[in-house]
Amino acid sequence: MKGNIWTRLPHGFTVLAPMEGVTDVVFRQVIAEAGRPDLFFTEFTNVSSFASPKGRFNALERFQIAPTDAPIVAQIWGKNPEHFRKVASALEGLGFDGIDINMGCPDRHVNAAGGGAAMIRTPDLAIECLRQAKSTTNLPVSVKTRLGYTAIDEFRDWLPILLRENLAALTVHLRTRKEMSKVPAHFELIPEIVTLRNQLAPDTKLVINGDVKDLQMARELAAQYPEVDGYMVGRGVFENPYCFTEHQPNQAELLTLLLRHLDYYDAEDARYVERQIEAMHDDAELALKLDGKVRGLPFDPLKHYFKIYVRDFPGAAELRAAMMNCQNTAEIRMLVERRQQ
Ligand SMILES: Cc1cc2nc3c(=O)[nH]c(=O)nc-3n(C[C@H](O)[C@H](O)[C@H](O)COP(=O)(O)O)c2cc1C
Repeated sequence: MKGNIWTRLPHGFTVLAPMEGVTDVVFRQVIAEAGRPDLFFTEFTNVSSFASPKGRFNALERFQIAPTDAPIVAQIWGKNPEHFRKVASALEGLGFDGIDINMGCPDRHVNAAGGGAAMIRTPDLAIECLRQAKSTTNLPVSVKTRLGYTAIDEFRDWLPILLRENLAALTVHLRTRKEMSKVPAHFELIPEIVTLRNQLAPDTKLVINGDVKDLQMARELAAQYPEVDGYMVGRGVFENPYCFTEHQPNQAELLTLLLRHLDYYDAEDARYVERQIEAMHDDAELALKLDGKVRGLPFDPLKHYFKIYVRDFPGAAELRAAMMNCQNTAEIRMLVERRQQ
């Protein structure tokens, strides 16, 4: 049994936010190399995909972890309590240190499926999913949510509902679903949220999220709000992948880190191919679904990361444009290495 990771983190800890299409097993290795947070989160995975034989392989792929990920929390979403139970019972065996339930995602498709922020409007179902997940695992279970669905003051009703469930941790993204990420995070509400936590669930770790850019800002907030336990950083990694350190990288370091990203991608690509071969061997239905063809990791999503590394220098836009036309990592490497000479 692993125990409760949340109680072993330093006060004022940092967390890499779950970001769909960003914080996959490849990018988390890049962040670990640049400078690790105290805790990693995976991207979110749908519990019903995991629970269905058809979706299982892809869901398991989203739960791949690297040795440098530890400690790491698996984030899940959905609306089917039975599926939450099934996934939660499997996650400890997959190497995770905790389970987090997403109750804040504003994506239209996720909300139409009853998950993410839609749970704020179905609190009975949200609690049922949470209880089912908790009932079947020894791992600590936490929730990440927003202040409310439409109005800011919904948090006064919504957060107590969650806090009464004896959560290991509660991450509050300081905006409503309606606000998306378009307005500044409501830091002014932190004292009231801290009071709620202290009154209702003093053992639940409180994590603040929204516009926390880096370690320095997390430290400043920790000085201002000493009763908050930790700070979660999301988009800060786009501005500086070294954001969990005090380091401000120069252009040469960013290009070197990009080459490391390609190395991690290639290594994961090779493992992905091996896993497909193995899975098809064991699972005729999967083999049929994949037409017996083994595929590499999708290549185009890699291009979303280029702007993290290639920017703010003369010729950066031209280099990025050339990289966008590449078909494989060898071509990107050639362009970057030419630039480095
Ligand atoms: C591209 C992207 C994908 C995201 N995917 C998830 C997700 O899978 N699960 C989740 O709880 N939040 C997700 N979020 C929200 C972030 O975790 C975080 O709450 C939000 O970006 C605010 O924090 P920040 O201001 O530090 O970026 C995503 C955000 C972005 C920008």
